[in-house]
Amino acid sequence: MNDHETPEKKDPLLLDHEADGIKELDNDLPRWWVWLFWLCIVQAFGYMLYYHVFNQGRLQAAEYTEESRLGDALKSGALQKFESALVSLQPSKDPAILAKGQQTFTTYCAPCHRADGGGLVGPNLTDDFWIHGDKFADNLKTIWNGAEDKGMLAWKKQGFKPDDVMAVASYIYTLRGTKPPNPKPPENTVQEVKPNEFE
Ligand code: HEC
Repeated sequence: MNDHETPEKKDPLLLDHEADGIKELDNDLPRWWVWLFWLCIVQAFGYMLYYHVFNQGRLQAAEYTEESRLGDALKSGALQKFESALVSLQPSKDPAILAKGQQTFTTYCAPCHRADGGGLVGPNLTDDFWIHGDKFADNLKTIWNGAEDKGMLAWKKQGFKPDDVMAVASYIYTLRGTKPPNPKPPENTVQEVKPNEFE
């Protein structure tokens, strides 16, 4: 028998295994790879001891709870800030904010207050009569907290952010005194505003 029949047969790395003409070589794994492999095992022991035996450090669930707590604190801080600043807020005159407010109004409020604010299910927002007070801050409060027993939603529960409420309230402020056709007459519980209280 001739040792040099084919060059492949001589290769000590060549296995008997072949698929679709592809032959398998029994190479050693690269040294760096093997080192990584051992390192991973060592690291796994370290990890297990650190986190699960000596209970050092925070696991993912604890990290998540902590981050959520921080996020909630930020959020409620911002909401509290808005609620306490609310009385002193002034309607914005920024055209971009008013345009955003108008869009919000058309989408969410017009079905009840009519696109021109003249009133439908909800009261007229253009006249001098207000159920919940005539100040800009009163409007902000009503939109934020709603009058749920009377059919006005609390928009803070509808995913509105302070900025959204600010924008839509600023927009409806511009509707005051615009006399749209066929307005809804003043509601029963009314409070009249003297014209000079409009700016
Ligand atoms: C489902 C119908 C409905 C929708 C939608 C609605 N409102 Fe109202 N809104 C009402 C009703 C009803 C009242 C009167 C509540 C009352 O009688 O106390 C009201 C009251 C108000 C008031 C106070 C009016 C006053 O006389 O003091 C403001 C301001 C107001 N809405 C703004 C908005 C804005 C802004 C939106 C959209 C983000 C909106 N509303 C969406 C039904 C609605």
